[in-house]
Amino acid sequence: MGRGVSQGVGVRTRQRLMAGAPALILCIAFGWIWPSRQASAQTLHYAGRPDAKAGEKVYKGGCIACHGEDGKGAPIANTMFKRPDTWPDFTDCAGTTPEPNGNWKAAIVHGGPSRGLSQIMPAFGDLLSDKQINDVIAYMRGLCRNDHHYPMGELNLPRALVTEKAFPENEIVVSTAASAKGTPAWTTDIIDERTIFDARTQLETDVPVNYATTENGWTEGVGDITLGVKREIFSSLRTGSILSVQGGILLPTGDSNRGFGAGTTQFEPFASFDQLFRTNTFLQTQVGADLPVDTSVTPRSMFWRAAVGQAWAPDHMLGRLFSPMVEFLATRDFAPGAQTDWDVLPEMQVTVSRRQHVRMGFGYRKPVTDVSGRNSQVLFYFLWDRADGKLWDGWR
Ligand code: HEC
Repeated sequence: MGRGVSQGVGVRTRQRLMAGAPALILCIAFGWIWPSRQASAQTLHYAGRPDAKAGEKVYKGGCIACHGEDGKGAPIANTMFKRPDTWPDFTDCAGTTPEPNGNWKAAIVHGGPSRGLSQIMPAFGDLLSDKQINDVIAYMRGLCRNDHHYPMGELNLPRALVTEKAFPENEIVVSTAASAKGTPAWTTDIIDERTIFDARTQLETDVPVNYATTENGWTEGVGDITLGVKREIFSSLRTGSILSVQGGILLPTGDSNRGFGAGTTQFEPFASFDQLFRTNTFLQTQVGADLPVDTSVTPRSMFWRAAVGQAWAPDHMLGRLFSPMVEFLATRDFAPGAQTDWDVLPEMQVTVSRRQHVRMGFGYRKPVTDVSGRNSQVLFYFLWDRADGKLWDGWR
């Protein structure tokens, strides 16, 4: 295998990506200064404000026969089709708020199959104007009153490899980090995130499985299992912002002698603030601490992380979504005079299933300070948004 060649390409690509980082930061700074009256939805640009009253006419003319007067669905006796298990109930806020307008728009413009949904959902792209489609979406949004202020799906930004987002999720992620140099070692995290009680609260379970090489060959074992509860505090589609806090506990399930765990229970509180700009540029930030119960085995530390990126998709943001980003990661022990370790992580997320409910992310994490004891890592994840249907559905 042409190992040398591929590595050479890797280094060049990496340098190019890193050179792109300052440009991205400039974009972000520009986004702040640029007066954004309305951070337009991640996947939708309105030429003018949508008119829900006009949308009601469209709905009653073209949609009511299947979706019903109330948005739950026309009486089954009147509709001759079998409802798919992803059948939408537009009055169910917890179910509809996480769907960005762009997902709906894609299904309305190109029909159900374009999104791996039922072929019974017709394409209206030739029948309705862009304005009429935006209007009918605005009307359908009104079928759920969102009295509980559930965060809107546009604020569910592309998942970064390390920085945790603010949006409460319903997904399963399998994420692997492998050392890029030195003795082979890797950790695979199996992460389950699900909303509990309402669409603003999320329970997270993270089970890491470690592999490492020793003198006697391979060794493997479970690491410290994390349980965390995240709560969205504030979100606004108008400003494009969302803020959450999480309280977590890391159980000492990993064997610390083999380097698989901290050897003590740790508490991990953090806050996440994400900002989406009208150009579909985004910034995700996270600040938190790891607070071990027994500080004689593991010191207290804090971390701060940021991901800046750009979401892009062909077909006016209705096609496959590509999200290049760069993360900046820092940790520091609480001890006086301790130094801060910085890493840079250029990466890419891309949707792989037609329904866009299965996504991949990959990147390269490089220490930039105190590089002697710390390895570069290759990272990769596979994500399944459980709320959008079964893993094996929605590919064709
Ligand atoms: C012939 C019946 C029919 C008509 C007419 C119809 N739909 Fe649908 N629609 C469906 C079906 C069936 C689904 C469910 C697809 C699935 O989940 O596989 C659906 C799903 C949807 C979805 C959800 C897409 C998603 O991302 O989950 C939206 C939004 C939608 N329809 C909007 C409309 C609008 C707007 C109109 C009128 C302009 C309309 N539909 C007319 C049958 C219909």
